[in-house]
Amino acid sequence: MKELIKKLVETYGPSGNEEQIREIIRAEIAGLADEVRTDALGNLIARKRGGSNGKRVMLAAHMDEIGVIVTHVDEKGFLRFGPVGGVWPHTLLGGRVVFADGTVGVIGTEKIEDENRKKVIPLDKLFIDVGAVDKESVPVRVGDVAGFQRPFADLGKRLVAKSFDDRIGCAILIQVMRGLKETPHDVYFVFSVQEEVGLRGATTSAYGIEPQIGLSVDVTLTGDTPEARTMAVELGKGPAIKVKDGRMLAHPGVKRLLVETAEAIGIPYQLEVLDGGTTDATVIQVSREGVPAGCVSIPCRYVHTPSEMVDYDDVTNAVKLLAAVLEQPITL
Ligand code: CO
Ligand code: ZN
Repeated sequence: MKELIKKLVETYGPSGNEEQIREIIRAEIAGLADEVRTDALGNLIARKRGGSNGKRVMLAAHMDEIGVIVTHVDEKGFLRFGPVGGVWPHTLLGGRVVFADGTVGVIGTEKIEDENRKKVIPLDKLFIDVGAVDKESVPVRVGDVAGFQRPFADLGKRLVAKSFDDRIGCAILIQVMRGLKETPHDVYFVFSVQEEVGLRGATTSAYGIEPQIGLSVDVTLTGDTPEARTMAVELGKGPAIKVKDGRMLAHPGVKRLLVETAEAIGIPYQLEVLDGGTTDATVIQVSREGVPAGCVSIPCRYVHTPSEMVDYDDVTNAVKLLAAVLEQPITL
């Protein structure tokens, strides 16, 4: 599975620019679903039909990653930029970005005045240098979007990548599809777009699918690093079953289903209460007349930095948990 993970995390795909990652995923799931389609927003939706007395289940993982968008090109060819999604200025200086066509840029800063040396440099004091000698030789233009560039690192049990949020969720969905032989349910695997800019892909795909149960698979924060926030989620203690985040209270029946399934198959799990942030499940839950929804979270350190870290055992246990949920009848 690590090979699949490496391929997904190193692919370009900031919000609204998911074509490349969508084609990679489409190739990976070829032959694994009864139907595969792309909707008007760009969500990749794969349906696996089950028996007639199961439920319509939607699983969502977002394909998009955070990035930056060019807002201005100056005479010397330096680019000014804005955020696409929750970009944290702390993480930018000296980093590299890559555009859809492969153009690489370095993030530099204006002169830092003495009184500002201890402060975070705001986005509008930073620029991207694509190595151009003048404005004419800049290979990108205003409105073009770049993602962060950083290679995947396999540290053994722990893995590091620029876009585990949420390519790890995509990898888990693909792995579940690969392992799923029989299911009584009509299962929709949704690789959603534009999550990082407001859960937009999940909004339209949930409306279209009209699920009877919705689950997102996404990353969550942890409380297990030096002087971290107080949070009872740690790397390596199992997938986290969401109870609450910044915008959603998980459906109690869905939470119970996940807890009971994890206990039945004997995998470790944690309960997640996240202060801020949210996932695709939030909009699935309030779609149409309402959908019982929950979330399987992968604990992740350094979320929204170019070096997000997850535990491989949490990933494989999340695959087992979701597969077990889909293989049995569901009563909430
Ligand atoms: Co995110
Ligand atoms: Zn995410």
